[in-house]
Amino acid sequence: MKVTVIGTGYVGLVTAVGLAKIGHTVIGYDVDPRKAALLQRGEVPIYEPGLAELMQECRQEGRLLFTDEAELAYREPELVFIAVGTPPKADGSADLTYIEQVCRDIGRYMDHDAVVVTKSTVPVGTNDHIQGLLQAYARGGTAFTVVSNPEFLREGTGVHDFFNGDRIVIGTSCDRAAGLLEELYAPLGLPLFHTDIRSAEMIKYASNAFLAAKISFINEISNICEKVDADIESVAFGMGLDRRIGPQFLKAGIGYGGSCFPKDTKALVQIAGHVQHDFQLLKAVIEVNNKQQASLVKKAKEVLELKGKRAALLGLAFKPNTDDMREAPSLAIAEQLLEAGADVIAYDPEAAENARRVLPEQVQYASSLQEALQGADVAFIVTEWAEIVELPLSQYAELMREPLVFDGRNCYSLEEAGRHDLYYCSIGRRTVA
Ligand code: UGA
Repeated sequence: MKVTVIGTGYVGLVTAVGLAKIGHTVIGYDVDPRKAALLQRGEVPIYEPGLAELMQECRQEGRLLFTDEAELAYREPELVFIAVGTPPKADGSADLTYIEQVCRDIGRYMDHDAVVVTKSTVPVGTNDHIQGLLQAYARGGTAFTVVSNPEFLREGTGVHDFFNGDRIVIGTSCDRAAGLLEELYAPLGLPLFHTDIRSAEMIKYASNAFLAAKISFINEISNICEKVDADIESVAFGMGLDRRIGPQFLKAGIGYGGSCFPKDTKALVQIAGHVQHDFQLLKAVIEVNNKQQASLVKKAKEVLELKGKRAALLGLAFKPNTDDMREAPSLAIAEQLLEAGADVIAYDPEAAENARRVLPEQVQYASSLQEALQGADVAFIVTEWAEIVELPLSQYAELMREPLVFDGRNCYSLEEAGRHDLYYCSIGRRTVA
C-alpha cells in the first residue's frame, strides 16, 4: 500500500519505518527541511535502539523516503497518517495547531480519496473535528475518512513494540476504512480491536492514565514502606503475582516523566473538566508524581548540608535507552540541588546534548560515570541505564570523597550495598548506613 506519514517525530518515524519494513511504500513528510534532509541522508535524529539499521534496510530496498515537499507527500497515498505533535498548552489541554495545518494541507494538495489515520494523541472528539475540517478543506469531489488509530509505543523500545504490540486499536464506523487498516497491519499478525472513533481516542488517554496511576500508587506504597520498615521490592513482587494486578509498572522510583504520561494525564483532567467531571483520582496521581520527583533531594537534605558540596547526577534522560529529556525527573532534581547550593556534575550516556539545552547552565557535564563520581560528596542515581546498574558499588566507595548514594531507581540490592563502606538510601527500602 502507499502510505504517507506526516510528522517524523518519535511516533511518526517509528511508524514510517515499521510500515516500510512490512512491505508498504512509505513517504515520511516533515515541514522542517533540515530534518527531512537528514532523514533522507539516512541519519536518525533521535536515539532509538534498532531504528537506524531498519531505516537503512528499508531505504535500500526503495520503500522509504523522506521529504519536506507537500506535493510529493500528498500525491499518491491511499493512507495518510497524522503523527504531528500535540504539545500541552499552559492549561494542560492539547494544542491542535499542527493537526489543523495538516488538514489544510490535505485539502489543498490531495486530488484523490484517502483514509486519514490519526496516530497523534488527541482529545476525545478531535477526530470528528478533523473529519469536519477535511470536509471543509477538500477540493470538489474528494472524500476523506478519518480513523483513530492510537499509538502505544514506548520510547527506547519503539521498534520492538511496533512489531510486538499487545493490540492495534482501529476506531471508525466506516467498514471500508477499517478493512484497509486491517490489510495494512495484517503482516504484523497482532490482535486488532475495532471500535468507534471516540472510544479509540479514550482508550489511549485511559491507558496512559491507568499506567501513570499504577506508578503513583506503587510510589505511595514505597513511601509508607520506608516508614513501616517493609521492602517495596518484595511488596511489588508479591502484588504482581496476582494476575489481576500483574507485575508491570510496579517499579517504584522517583516518578514518571517523558513526553506522554505528564502531558496525557493533565489533558485527561482537562477533558473531564470540560464535561464537568472532577477527575479526583487522576489529579492525585499527578500530585503524587510531583512530590515523588522531589523526594530524593529531600532525603539527602536530612543527612547532609548540600551547600558547597559536589553532587554527581547519574542519568538524565526520563528513562534508559532514550535521549529524551522531556519532563525528566532529573530536571527537578538538578534545580533543587543548585538551589540548595550544591555543584552539580551530571552524566548521561546519550542525553547530555539534549540536557544542555534544558538543564540550568550551572550544571557541569562529565564524560563518564567515573569522572562524575570522582571526588563527589553525594551521588544521585536518576536513570537506570544498564551502564549505571552494572557499575560496581565498590567504585562509589573508591571514587567519592563521601560515599553518600541516593538511588532513585533501586539499582542495587541491599545485600550488595551492605558489603561496601557507604551510605545507601533508595526508594521504599531500609537505608544502609
Ligand atoms: C508511555 C506508554 O508506556 C506507551 O504505551 C505510550 O505509547 C507512550 O507513553 C505514549 O503515550 O506515547 P513512554 O513514555 O515511552 O511510554 O515510557 P514508559 O516506559 O511507559 O515510562 C514512562 C515513565 O514511567 C518513565 O519515566 C519511567 O521511568 C516511569 N516508570 C515506568 C516507573 O517509574 N515505574 C514503572 O514501573 C514503569
